[in-house]
Amino acid sequence: MILSMTDICKDYAMGKTVTPVLKNVCLQVEQGDYVAIMGPSGSGKTTLMNLIGCLDTPTSGEYLLAGETVTGRSDNDLAAIRNRKIGFVFQSFNLLPRMTALSNVALPLLYGGVPREERRHRAMEALKLVGLEDRMEHRPDQLSGGQCQRVAIARAIVCRPELLLADEPTGALDSASGQQIMALFQQLHESGVTIVMITHDAAVAGHARRCCQIRDGVLTGGGADE
Ligand SMILES: Nc1ncnc2c1ncn2[C@@H]1O[C@H](COP(=O)(O)OP(=O)(O)OP(=O)(O)O)[C@@H](O)[C@H]1O
Ligand SMILES: [Mg+2]
Repeated sequence: MILSMTDICKDYAMGKTVTPVLKNVCLQVEQGDYVAIMGPSGSGKTTLMNLIGCLDTPTSGEYLLAGETVTGRSDNDLAAIRNRKIGFVFQSFNLLPRMTALSNVALPLLYGGVPREERRHRAMEALKLVGLEDRMEHRPDQLSGGQCQRVAIARAIVCRPELLLADEPTGALDSASGQQIMALFQQLHESGVTIVMITHDAAVAGHARRCCQIRDGVLTGGGADE
């Protein structure tokens, strides 16, 4: 099991009122799985994604990522876990605007302490995998939206993470570029990468191997065998 969440709750305190946003969420993801999490606006998708991605910690419950307990860890520990185990893909790409595609992709390796030549080599390999070997020296403003997202995917996989976590990965793209990104996810899935993708688009969710629904903070279909 790559990811195992048991009875995860997340409350937000606003003054004296406490709002429960995630309610006893249980989610199991096995190695190599491809899971979509679907739900309407305000249902708790981003809140859940932040917990899965170790960007935030739950109010209660247990979270194991690749066998390691995530609950109750320090911010430094969480940052290290993120760098080693998770690759992120965001709706808005989140590339550094002044850096080339190659430098953007190599950046997580720099944080990971990988030597310079190996960084360059591995970043080039990742860009080849997403079909951008002829755009390595381009900056984000010299690339199309779909190409930027492919750079972001190369950056997400360059550290060979246990988990690829995507929040509305096609949300900012036209339908043709969105299809390309879904084809790339399919290819990564077939090569063994574990993917958790958050979306409100049923057509996008249809590409995953299974789909969970979140509604008002309650997740259904989160078990590995459902
Ligand atoms: N920092 C916060 N403080 C208080 N309430 C919050 C906070 N963050 C989120 N919420 C509330 O939690 C609920 C879920 O928010 P979340 O951002 O997870 O929804 P979402 O499913 O990602 O929606 P969308 O599809 O619109 O992005 C919302 O009702 C929101 O108002
Ligand atoms: Mg959201």
